Amino acid sequence: MRNKKSIISILSLAFLFANLSLQASEPKLSIRSLGDSHSLVQIENASKYILLPVQESAKEARIYYVVNNDVKGNFNVRMAVDSIDYYVPMEIGMYNNQSITLSIQWVDEKAICWENIQLSDTFDTANRETLRPAYHFAPQYGWMNDPNGMFYKDGVWHLYYQYNPYGSMWGNMHWGHASSKDLIHWEHHPVALQPDALGAIFSGSCVVDSNNTAGFGKNAIIAFYTSASDRQMQSMAYSTDNGMTFKKYNANPIVTSSLRDFRDPKVIWHEESKKWIMVLAAGQEMQFYSSTDLKEWTYESSFGQGHGCHDGVWECPDLLKLPVEGTNEHRWVLLCNINPGGPFGGSATQYFTGNFDGKQFVCESDKDVVKWMDFGKDHYATVSFSNAPSGRHTVMAWMSNWQYANVVPTTQFRSANSVPRDISLFKHNGEVYLRSCPVKELNALRTEIKRSHQPLRLSAKPHEWKTFNKYNDGIYELDFVIKNQDAETITITLSNDKGDSICWTYDFVSQMVSFDRTKSGNMDFHPDFPAITSCPLFSESNETRLRIYVDKCSVESFGDGGRWCMTNLVFPSEPYTHISYEAQGGKASISAEYYPINMK
Ligand code: FRU
Repeated sequence: MRNKKSIISILSLAFLFANLSLQASEPKLSIRSLGDSHSLVQIENASKYILLPVQESAKEARIYYVVNNDVKGNFNVRMAVDSIDYYVPMEIGMYNNQSITLSIQWVDEKAICWENIQLSDTFDTANRETLRPAYHFAPQYGWMNDPNGMFYKDGVWHLYYQYNPYGSMWGNMHWGHASSKDLIHWEHHPVALQPDALGAIFSGSCVVDSNNTAGFGKNAIIAFYTSASDRQMQSMAYSTDNGMTFKKYNANPIVTSSLRDFRDPKVIWHEESKKWIMVLAAGQEMQFYSSTDLKEWTYESSFGQGHGCHDGVWECPDLLKLPVEGTNEHRWVLLCNINPGGPFGGSATQYFTGNFDGKQFVCESDKDVVKWMDFGKDHYATVSFSNAPSGRHTVMAWMSNWQYANVVPTTQFRSANSVPRDISLFKHNGEVYLRSCPVKELNALRTEIKRSHQPLRLSAKPHEWKTFNKYNDGIYELDFVIKNQDAETITITLSNDKGDSICWTYDFVSQMVSFDRTKSGNMDFHPDFPAITSCPLFSESNETRLRIYVDKCSVESFGDGGRWCMTNLVFPSEPYTHISYEAQGGKASISAEYYPINMK
């Protein structure tokens, strides 16, 4: 009997201990208010994530995260005050068994975030957006702007991007990272560069250091970015695992200035002078620096005064040497993104053609000539991949506009990139222009269910292409050939049964083409969104080709093999399921091909 009793008490003690140790290892969260909108969140036995509730209309709260009494970093989150739009994860699993404290300022103690902060071992990234693009790159969650540091190596294209992992609006700039073998299917990777004591990580570029000029190893990937706090300066980081992880150079910054706007380093190899060149956006100019070891930089010259458009700040430069089609000539092209000041308001990409001798860029056009790379409202921060194969010059743009990028009607993520494009040069009326062609890899996405029609005679009465709507899920490509005899205008309209429509109008009298999104769908989110964008036809012939890429919330148009292009966002209430054509003032015909796109 005694024995039995002692066995029972030993068992119950064991049970108690097991239970206690179970409790001890369970993650625990406690919140203490310090008054004055300042609270401490203390975590014992970290789970993988702490999930922070966000309300986009709330003001930003400042969060310092402290591990074992040391500040590890800080970031801002729009902590929910009276409703929750979504959660953002902060990874804390690596601090398991250490004491973690979030010191959170500028949030009232009555805000609902306090009772909704959660610890979790998972964060659900499954898509919740009906208008998430299928074949355009977009982050899984959070905010994205400019493409950064793009390079190609060993069959893989790397894309970094301005990224806020703590909300779907601009802030807390990191470099997000993804890679692809075909420029279309992207694999998401962990963040590549995080803010540090020198500042947030603004835009920049990467090079493959194949001759080990910087001393970080043969074929090291060297990243250049702007460290941005109240001042802007250039820093570098290097990767010896093909861009998967980076170490910051311990003598950062490498280039400084007293200018306020001084950012977005683009580094290229200049074969003729056997030097590295860094181009920097400096207010309304571009500055050129040279180097032999990627660490010490010498100022060479500036370009810009009086040239092109100056209605905004110059940002995100690129410098490329391209052949001119049909000639033995080459030109240097200086890409110069500008915001605001774009032809339709807000952001756009202008460029200059001319010569660069390793020291100075000399523009070949008259000072008042403005060349736009794309004639839509949503094409910005265009830069090229470094080290692209087979002489390719492949670029991507951020597909949005600073006028409204922060409020477009998606919330799980904000912004996608344009389709990648190969650029080249052509001559037209004595000037040299950029041609942008969707990359050939896109053709592999066309499905078998192609639909087409032979040339149709057009008239003033709209004619609907009846078989178009059958397979349409808002993810497709269209290819038109238009032959004009003596019509003044031709209009192609895409529409849906909810009354949303977009249309292209070719005006053969003024030799202009326009795209109208003033009835495209949801536009209430910003007064600058409804727009008609237009551009010159750049063509002498009366036969013209139009390729259109539609991907849920974007429409990219390419005329005559990319002699002009136009990138515009749209937010239709359902996919556009009808196409109709009309011609005014004379005769014309149109033929069409429709390819649903399949990402599998
Ligand atoms: C362009 C830009 C860059 C800057 C980055 C910050 O869109 O303003 O000049 O580096 O965005 O996110």
